[in-house]
Amino acid sequence: MTKQEEIAKLKAEKDAVILAHYYVEPEVQEIADYIGDSFYLSKLAQGLNNSTIVFCGVNFMGESGKLLSPHKKVLMPDLHADCPMAHMVRKETVDRFRAEYPDLAVVCYINSTAEIKTWSDVCVTSANAVKVVRALPNHDILFIPDRNLGHFVAEQVPEKNVMLVDGCCPIHDQISAQELQELKQAHPQAELLVHPECSAEVRAMADYLGSTSGIIKHATESANTEFIIGTEVGVCYDLERKNPGKTFYFPKTRPVCADMKAITLDKILHVLKTGENDISVSENVAARAGAPLERMLELSK
Ligand code: 13P
Ligand code: SF4
Repeated sequence: MTKQEEIAKLKAEKDAVILAHYYVEPEVQEIADYIGDSFYLSKLAQGLNNSTIVFCGVNFMGESGKLLSPHKKVLMPDLHADCPMAHMVRKETVDRFRAEYPDLAVVCYINSTAEIKTWSDVCVTSANAVKVVRALPNHDILFIPDRNLGHFVAEQVPEKNVMLVDGCCPIHDQISAQELQELKQAHPQAELLVHPECSAEVRAMADYLGSTSGIIKHATESANTEFIIGTEVGVCYDLERKNPGKTFYFPKTRPVCADMKAITLDKILHVLKTGENDISVSENVAARAGAPLERMLELSK
């Protein structure tokens, strides 16, 4: 039996469903039941009937799945696959802003630990951040932990006072404006599609700015046939699958998230066989971290 066949058999036996983010390896995306960005996957996890979810992504994704579906088993193929940005804000910082701005809304990017979510009023993903912040009644907003996505939101919602901390995604933040410029010169017809986790300099060059699924949708619907992509290389699998006649160029320093790439077929097989790496969130944290996620789903309807 191939690994793929063994996974299919175990999935049926264990009533499991496999969810994968666009940044995991193509062979993992191939065996997934659903592939998507952070927003799609968090919404989906809640509505599925299976008793077990295998979450092929980094820890905050599995944790969010567990917070939204506490009675399901959520298995992580690799518990060391963690998003560095998910830890990039301190409680003292949030407390300081709360003391200074009595009507503050703390808006937390879903790429954060469950504990950080407990300090927050609402979560967002890159696909809904602008819509959710706009819908909040508060004028003063503290956006944590991604300064780049936060700055993008501040530009899109100028009527609010959006304040930032200094976190970022090391992969997107390091995408080089110079390398993108070289690609634009080599391929002048190509559209530049950029994720809002990128630096302000890179965002300023973009023809289109959006979440991972936004980038894929834009490229698929565009009449253009060449695109320069400013996000993690994992999107290439779905971009090429949906757009056989189109060409996609990535920066020569390839944006690769090692944590996402840590998910392998062998690790998926292992957790399906053993039931290990069942993600758990303490009752105390779960009680307070689920509400900002639920509020995000409500405000982004
Ligand atoms: P989206 O899935 O919201 O596009 O975010 C990208 C990302 O970096 C996920 O870790
Ligand atoms: Fe975190 Fe960036 Fe990797 Fe996404 S791509 S998991 S934000 S380090």
